[in-house]
Amino acid sequence: MGGHAQGNCQPVIKADLIGHSEPSSTVNPQRLNTSMTSTSASASVVSDGLPSLAIANRLATARIYLHGGHVAQWRPAGHGEVLWMSARSLHAPDKPLRGGIPVCFPWFGPHPERPELPAHGFARQRAWALDAVTDLDDGSTRAVLALVSDAASRAQWPHDAAVTLTVTVGSTLNVELAIANRDPAPLVCEAALHTYFSVGDIRRTTVEGLAGTPYLDKVGGVARRIEGSAPIAFSGETDRVYLGTTATATIVDPLLARRITVAKRGSRSTVVWNPWIAKAAKMADFGDHEWPGMLCVETANAADDRMTIAPGAIERMALDVSVTHA
Ligand code: BG6
Repeated sequence: MGGHAQGNCQPVIKADLIGHSEPSSTVNPQRLNTSMTSTSASASVVSDGLPSLAIANRLATARIYLHGGHVAQWRPAGHGEVLWMSARSLHAPDKPLRGGIPVCFPWFGPHPERPELPAHGFARQRAWALDAVTDLDDGSTRAVLALVSDAASRAQWPHDAAVTLTVTVGSTLNVELAIANRDPAPLVCEAALHTYFSVGDIRRTTVEGLAGTPYLDKVGGVARRIEGSAPIAFSGETDRVYLGTTATATIVDPLLARRITVAKRGSRSTVVWNPWIAKAAKMADFGDHEWPGMLCVETANAADDRMTIAPGAIERMALDVSVTHA
């Protein structure tokens, strides 16, 4: 678990959640140590009801909540905020945040047999441990967060896994989810880095890179379709799981005059979602008028692309986000 912060790098902060508001079985009292040894970067644990790590370096700023292992903000130098957060997001230890990059694990969408369990799994509403924060030589800052199986997770999912989220904040945003199977049997699971992007207006936004790709269309039931050759445009509720694709997707946003590129590794599904008017109105943690300003392009392994991880093996899934003026 952890151990990703390697190479020529400098520890910035060793921190954990002690002293912050959230009780958690992942907390280790020995690790309340927030000594800063950074030169150029700063990283500090702050709290707005839930503890989060605020990162600022010469390349970007970011905020990562330990609740859910949730990247909520990333702003590379020379650009506006790239991720979208709802002004109505809840900030509660037993609820997911709305926006940013929720980690969906170990299932995606409703649980297939137990609809009473939380949608998109439990990882996004658990307190993760902060293992390390490190300055890298290129000026970026790397945070490593961890979530291990415990009695609460086993009550919902009777398996042992150690999950690590490595977030590298720089002129690109890199997020890697690593799932280690600690069960003696193969582990079948789904996962998504459910990334919400800020857009000028969804009705003027397009997505390139998924032409010709088969997908599950989840609006009004589930249908299998194949994407056409044109960039994806939006004129109503959109909820699609593109399957068997490792392609880079690009969000083309003429209003904000930028292109957001989402490259990925270890992921064969890409989910594209905007709730539009009626579904937004039904969600308590989503403002009725916020839907035009967001678009989810999610890096996932879901449905047909669910993972089977051999005993002792580790499966990694990652995204790299970059932004250019257009
Ligand atoms: C998307 C799903 O990934 O997440 C949608 O494809 C779902 O079906 C959306 O509505 C939001 O889910 P939630 O649980 O965060 O409201």
